[in-house]
This record gives sequence, C-alpha cells and structure tokens, in this order.
Amino acid sequence: MSLLFRAGTAALRHRGRPPLRRSSTFNVSGYMPEAASFPGVRDFPGLRALSLQQPDRFWGALGRERLCWISPFHSVSNCDLGQGSIRWFEGGQLNVSVNCIDRHVHKSPDKVALIWERDEPGAQVKITYRQLLEVTCRLANTLKRQGVRKGDRVTIYMPASPIAVASMLACARIGAVHSVVFAGFSADALADRIQDAHSETIITSNQAVRGGRVIELKKTVDQAVKLCPSVKRVFVAMRTENKVLMSNIDIPLEEEMMKEETACDPVAMESEDMLFLLYTSGSTGKPKGVVHTQAGYLLYTSLTHRYVFDYHDGDVFGCVADIGWITGHSYVVYGPLCNGGTTVLFESTPVYPNPGRYWETVERLKINQFYGAPTAIRLLLKYGDEWVKAHDRSSLKTLGSVGEPINSKAWDWYYKVVGEGRCPVLDTWWQTETGGICIAPHPADREAEIVPAMAMRPFFGINPVLMDDQGRRLAGNNISGSLCIAQPWPGMARTIYNDHERFVNTYFKAYPNHFFTGDGAYRSKEGYYQITGRLDDVINISGHRLGTAEIEGAVNQHRVVAESAAIGCAHKIKGEGSYVFIVLKDGIDIAEHIINKELKDIVSQKIAKYAAPDFIQVVMRLPKTRSGKIMRRVLRKIVENKVDELGDLTTLDDYTAVQEIVAGHKLILEKEAKNSSS
Ligand code: PRX
Repeated sequence: MSLLFRAGTAALRHRGRPPLRRSSTFNVSGYMPEAASFPGVRDFPGLRALSLQQPDRFWGALGRERLCWISPFHSVSNCDLGQGSIRWFEGGQLNVSVNCIDRHVHKSPDKVALIWERDEPGAQVKITYRQLLEVTCRLANTLKRQGVRKGDRVTIYMPASPIAVASMLACARIGAVHSVVFAGFSADALADRIQDAHSETIITSNQAVRGGRVIELKKTVDQAVKLCPSVKRVFVAMRTENKVLMSNIDIPLEEEMMKEETACDPVAMESEDMLFLLYTSGSTGKPKGVVHTQAGYLLYTSLTHRYVFDYHDGDVFGCVADIGWITGHSYVVYGPLCNGGTTVLFESTPVYPNPGRYWETVERLKINQFYGAPTAIRLLLKYGDEWVKAHDRSSLKTLGSVGEPINSKAWDWYYKVVGEGRCPVLDTWWQTETGGICIAPHPADREAEIVPAMAMRPFFGINPVLMDDQGRRLAGNNISGSLCIAQPWPGMARTIYNDHERFVNTYFKAYPNHFFTGDGAYRSKEGYYQITGRLDDVINISGHRLGTAEIEGAVNQHRVVAESAAIGCAHKIKGEGSYVFIVLKDGIDIAEHIINKELKDIVSQKIAKYAAPDFIQVVMRLPKTRSGKIMRRVLRKIVENKVDELGDLTTLDDYTAVQEIVAGHKLILEKEAKNSSS
C-alpha cells in the first residue's frame, strides 16, 4: 500500500480546450436507445445512478435488448462477492458467434466486419459479415471433425488475422473454450499455458510477419508441443507461402476447411458457460487463466465499445492491440462485432515501415476511433510531428489509450497533434479481470468534461471505492487509496481456471465483499479518478503485465545465479521497465557484459522478449530482514534515487548490503548516462 501517491491533477486541467458539450439538453433515449425502458431517467448521471441502485433492472433491460437469445434468462444477477461467486443472466441460452456474426449477416451481409491491416502497408484485406460467417463455420466444422468438443480448451497462438478471429468465433460456435496466447511468448511460456489449460488442440500459423520480419511461429509451437504430450492436434494456417515441417499431429487448416460446409449449427450455451481463458500475470511466478463467460462479458464489451468510444453504425474502429491480450479480445473482436461494427486487425508495428504507419493507416482506412497504448504514443512523439501531419486524420473522432498510465506530455501530444484538438482523448482504465473498460471519460455524454491524463468516470454499473491500509472505505474527495469495486458487473471475471481459491484470495479477501483491483487510485476534488499504479509485485512493461516473480523465476535458472530480486523502474518509453539484482553463486567470476546478455536471453527464452530486464546489477547480497525476507521497498527506493527515504531499517540484517547496492547503482546510472550521450 505504500506505493500510493497523489498526482497533482490541478496542473493538468486544460481550460482552453474546445468544450465537448454539443447540446445543452441531454436526451437519454437519444443517447441510449434502450433507455426507453427507463422512463423518467433524463440524463447520463441518472442512468448511472439507476445502473447502481437497480442493477437488475438496468442490466436486465440491456441484456434483453442488446443480445440475441436462444432462450431467455430467468434471473439477471446472482452474485456473492464474499465467495467470489458471480453469475449473470442465469437460465438464458445464447451463442456468442451468432451475436457477433449471424444476426448482422441477416441485416447487412455485405457490410465489412474486419479490415485486416497486414504488415505490408497498402495490402489490407476486407472481410464482410457474410464471409466471416462462412470462414467461421468452415473452421468450426473442421474443429468438430477433428474431435474438438464443447468445453474443450483450444489454444490459439497466432497474431491478429481474419483466421485468428474466425478461430475464436469458431470455438464460441461449437462451445469450445479458447485460450489465445500472445504470439510473442516463448515456447516455454506457451507450454505452461497449454498444460495449465489441459489443452489438446492448438491453432497456429506457419509463420508470422511483423515489422517486415518473418517469425517462425510453428517452430515455437513444435518446441512447446514437445513439452506437452497431451496435445493431440495442431492446426496450421498459412500466413506466408513458406512450407514448414509437418508432423503426424499437424493439420493444414485451410486445406481441411475447404472440404467443409459453409454452415454450422451454433451450440446453445448457458450464460455462465466458459467463453475463454486468458492468461495474465499475478504476484506469483505462475500466470493465471482468467475465465470469462458468455452473456455478461459480451454485453459489457459491446456496451462499453458503443458508449465509451461513441461508436456509431458505419464507423471504422481501429484498436491496434494484439488479440493475445484482453484489449484485443474485447475491443478488436467481441465488442465491435457484437455491435455489428467494422473493426481493424492491425498486424504491424507503429514504426514499420516508418513512424507514420498508424496515421497512414488511419488515412487509408478512414479510421474513426483509434485505440492504442501510451508506450507507442511516447515512442512516436520522439519522432516528431511531421510523421503525423503528413497524413489526413480528418476521419478521427475519438482517441483512446489503455494499459498503463498516460503521462500528460503524451496525452497532450495525442490530443493536440494527432487529434488536432478536435477528438476527445480517452484514458481508459481496466484489466484482464474486469473484461471491459471500467473507468473512462464518456464522450457519448456530451455534458462531460475531460481532464487530461485522468481515467475520470466510472462506467455504468461500476462502483469504485478507495480503501485505506486498514480496509476502511475512504470517504470524500482529494484522496488516494486502494482501488476496489463495490458491486458486481456483468463483464467481470468468474474464476481462475482450476483455481477458484486463488481467485477468491486474490480479489475478494483483502477487502471483503469488494473486488480488489491491485491498483492504487486518486480521487480528485471533483470526484474524478486517476490510476496511480500497481500495489502488488506486478509491473507493467509497455502496457504488458508481468510478475516480478516470473522474471526472478527465469533469472534464477541461470547456472551462475544464487538468488535475485526484480523490481519495476521508470522507463522513458516503456513506462515501466525491470531492474534485476542478482547474487552470484560462490566462486563465480563472470564478465558483466556476458552475464547481462545471458540473463536477457534466458528471460526472453523462458517468458518473452518484452520481459528481458532493462538493468541488471550484480550485488554481494540482497537486503533482507532478519527472518530472511528480501526488503524490496529498500531496493525500490534505491532505484528511484530516493536513498534519503529508505525508512525504517531496524529489521535489516546487514546495513553494508544497502551501502554496496547504492554504490553499484550509482555506477549503473553513470554508465547509462554515458551510453545515452554517446
Ligand atoms: O495497472 C493497471 C494497468 O494495467 C493493469 C491491467 O493490465 P491487463 O490486465 O494486462 O490489462 C491491460 C489492458 C486493459 C491495471 O491493473 N492499466 C490499465 N489501464 C490503465 C492502467 N493504468 C493506468 N491507466 C490506465 N488507463
């Protein structure tokens, strides 16, 4: 809890901006057509109050109107946060793929569902709803023919592409549970996730293409499969023309699909059947398979997509996240498709072939809502305004940011340069566990102001509270605390796969009857929220979550490492980087550049390239309490250059350890300064 800090928000307020208010009378039913079910509610705050005071009435009406049911639900919510028991829309049956495809095919079959923005600029591919249905059905039939059944877990290891989206939707169609693993994860990390999910089926592609480079995806899968004897079949799609080695469990996906029918009966799923698992990092070394179910997740992602981004029929929605993360699940695939929208699948990088790529794509595809990560914005800002200004961005209406705090400099640049001061910038706060956006400005509410670099307001049904160290709710404004959510909402995770106890302990024990987010937040004088960062041993590298214990687990496998401690550190581009302290085994003498390289390699190999440590410091010993616990607080202060604030060191067993580390850290800083000036 000690990491809480209060940001100086007053300084961030932009008074000179054009107001977002476009009409002085707020008409709820114009804003939200479903509001016809709530006579008497006149404005956005009224709707929000209703969503909190009468959640069953609110979500029940929206669930009935926004989703297409095979059989109706008999109860709206049945939740007990104390037990981590969350159930929505019980009794109802539906199929998510029908909601995301079939019903739009009936209305407008030739509407574009997906625009695949391939790595090669200008080589985009458009897929209509009719085509998406055909591909999904062929794929679903292929899965069935090869023995995949309802409830089976299917691991998808491929970057954003129509076939990847169809794979997710084909699982949903036949009732299989997908587990998409980010295609940048290593073979070891992939194997861990396959094993934890007891997945017998993998879908991958021969190769991936990113930033002009070819990535040997299938080879990584082959290595992972060697560690997973339970895998029975690997479907291989062809992203490039290059042949790869096929074993007796490998199945050429497109070839098999071509033999199948273009129709496939959707399975009727209960609202609370599993839709997908998505692995994310926690405080321990073992990633957790966060479980989302069918109806509640779909309703929540489609509603947030519609109202947070002010998405309108006919808009082109451009979320550049990878489908391997929750942002890709909720705002590349499920939210936009449930709304019958047109969604962009971005395969490339922000700097390929040059730092104008995002804005050239915006111009070419006429993107209306652009949703990206602060890391990329910070990186592009460095390259200067010309790369942005070279492209017509007049199609843009809203700009979103997600995954990590967006600092005011990046926010300002995004707002003024990218959005030409016309487009609201939405700092959206949420998590893998929350399913969809929970705190964000609401541009659809024309009355609402936006304060730069603040996530601002809770969405419908979200009741954020701040807690102190003793677990007491903090009343009033201008205050910081642990961010909890006091009421269940339909999009929240239901469990951790095969580990409900960990689910309850992680999210519902620290503050009974509340969902604990793991983040700290500040509530401003006006009652707006600003996220201040993680309170646990999770760091956020370029918007990707990583447990420090995972890094230590990988580093400790190196033959010369006796023990290690990893912590987060400020990083100009990535937001947060990792700083690893290692103690060498007795009698080992190894050159610094060699150990640095080998440790970076081992972390890349055990986890992923993005997880490789930014700084490595060899120390004689780690600062520990007399009972042997590493004092991470002390390490953090040293790395933050706040040696005067080391605090109470009475429990430290040996003060000289701290002095040595401070001296070593100084040398690392000097070297860093030299490198960046040369
Ligand atoms: O610390 C918060 C940070 O990202 C964490 C969630 O990570 P993940 O589950 O990978 O989901 C990322 C995409 C939704 C949070 O606990 N985070 C996310 N959005 C923001 C943020 N921190 C500050 N501001 C945000 N807007």
